[in-house]
Amino acid sequence: MFESKSGILFIAGVAFFAIAFLSNAVVPALMYRDLPEQTVEELINGNLRYQFEDLARRYPDSFNEAFGEPPGGEAEHDAWWNDKCAEALRVGHRIYTGEGCWHCHSQFVRPVSNEEERWGPVSATWEYQNELQRPVLFGTRRVGPDLSREGGRRSNDWHAVHFFDPETLSTDSPMPAYPWLFDGSPDRPNKRGLALITYVQWLGSWLESYPYYEDDEPTSLRDLELPVE
Ligand code: HEC
Repeated sequence: MFESKSGILFIAGVAFFAIAFLSNAVVPALMYRDLPEQTVEELINGNLRYQFEDLARRYPDSFNEAFGEPPGGEAEHDAWWNDKCAEALRVGHRIYTGEGCWHCHSQFVRPVSNEEERWGPVSATWEYQNELQRPVLFGTRRVGPDLSREGGRRSNDWHAVHFFDPETLSTDSPMPAYPWLFDGSPDRPNKRGLALITYVQWLGSWLESYPYYEDDEPTSLRDLELPVE
């Protein structure tokens, strides 16, 4: 076996597999096993709140119907927004999973082929240590672009029009239309539509690279404490 080329290649193949398993599974598992899993409530940050409140401003009727009217008092006010934002993230995540968005979109920027130039920072293990990553949505196929840094790249109304009918914005897009996320027209997203937009805007909102809005400052900027440098 050791004399033949194929024998050497076979042994090298097994060895490379073992090294990959060690570096991609065993080492990260040992490094992060004590890191607690974050709940949805802990994932809310300034960037996301900005987007969620923007949805309320853009689609007041739809928003009130879906989440109710914001209360008056300051402290109460903040807790109310965080609460609704968490609810929207949970619903949005369920729709993303249920509609099979992950058949066509990955959520993993790989450390190969200069992917970070196209999609932003390479994905790190700690980013997946939270409730919204169950089930894990890495995805394997990329019919459409990777979405792990999608948040902030497009405006909320862009997403609404795109989900209502992708071809309006992207000629010959193979992405299906999702009219059931709306009550009739793209400017009437229902609760599921608002929630899915919130979820998509959340993707990458925990990173410094989240696009900054020059003229519309987020309510409070990046106040999330990252577990690892
Ligand atoms: C059949 C494959 C397919 C499915 C299923 C699919 N998409 Fe897409 N998606 C694409 C393709 C291709 C593009 C690029 C063309 C375009 O913008 O429409 C895209 C683009 C996007 C974009 C814009 C990315 C950008 O910034 O340019 C978002 C956001 C998106 N999809 C989200 C979703 C969500 C959420 C779902 C599930 C509700 C979904 N997609 C389902 C194929 C798909």
